[in-house]
Amino acid sequence: METIIETIDLHKVYRLGRIEIHALRGVNMKVKKGEIVCVMGPSGSGKTTLLNIIGTLDKPTKGKVFLEGQDVTKLSEKELTQLRRKKIGFVFQFHNLLPVLTALENVELPMILAGVPREERLKRAKYLLKLVGLEDRMHHRPSELSGGEQQRVAIARALANKPSIILADEPTGELDTENSKKVMKIFREVVINEGATAVVVTHNPLVAEFAHRILHLRDGKIVKEEIR
Ligand SMILES: Nc1ncnc2c1ncn2[C@@H]1O[C@H](COP(=O)(O)OP(=O)(O)OP(=O)(O)O)[C@@H](O)[C@H]1O
Ligand SMILES: [Mg+2]
Repeated sequence: METIIETIDLHKVYRLGRIEIHALRGVNMKVKKGEIVCVMGPSGSGKTTLLNIIGTLDKPTKGKVFLEGQDVTKLSEKELTQLRRKKIGFVFQFHNLLPVLTALENVELPMILAGVPREERLKRAKYLLKLVGLEDRMHHRPSELSGGEQQRVAIARALANKPSIILADEPTGELDTENSKKVMKIFREVVINEGATAVVVTHNPLVAEFAHRILHLRDGKIVKEEIR
């Protein structure tokens, strides 16, 4: 199977004045095409740092990241912006939907930025909203949706430009148990359906149940791997 994400000896040191914080201490991981991998660990163990570096939002102090075989640590800012727009879909804890736009318009937005023609864009947005079970909520604004529904819109939006990689940071962080399960079930279905590869960061064991594999992070290192 094709390796979609690979990190080699990733280190991240944050410097705050004279204080150094070693957020990552040599992370090696590989994610294969179609896999959903969960990164679990206590608060401060480096989960968000790792995800942001994989998503090219942040740079490692040392080490390399390969996305679909390409060494992204070598790319310029401009090339990285292109790569993120084309290859990566992000889902955050707080959905970041635009409050003045409807669910449909929020899902359309990344496609507008990518220059997708209107008809194709509408078709894709409606298809994705149907996939996450929100075909009857398309014209609702975020404030007219429940927390779980908002996260489902955020998942649909992340998939808009058919990214090969989905990165999610505590995607159910704001949801109760029942909604977390529902959102993760849908997340898993759409990621598989779209042929994407996903890394989900969480400290919630319930969320990790939906992964194919779980990597446990402690103090910036992978200390255990569970295959499910
Ligand atoms: N921008 C920053 N500057 C300095 N230190 C940082 C910065 N971001 C994170 N850290 C530190 O790096 C370590 C790892 O942080 P990170 O956000 O990756 O943890 P996390 O596993 O995502 O935690 P949580 O579960 O609370 O979200 C922590 O000690 C944190 O305080
Ligand atoms: Mg975090």
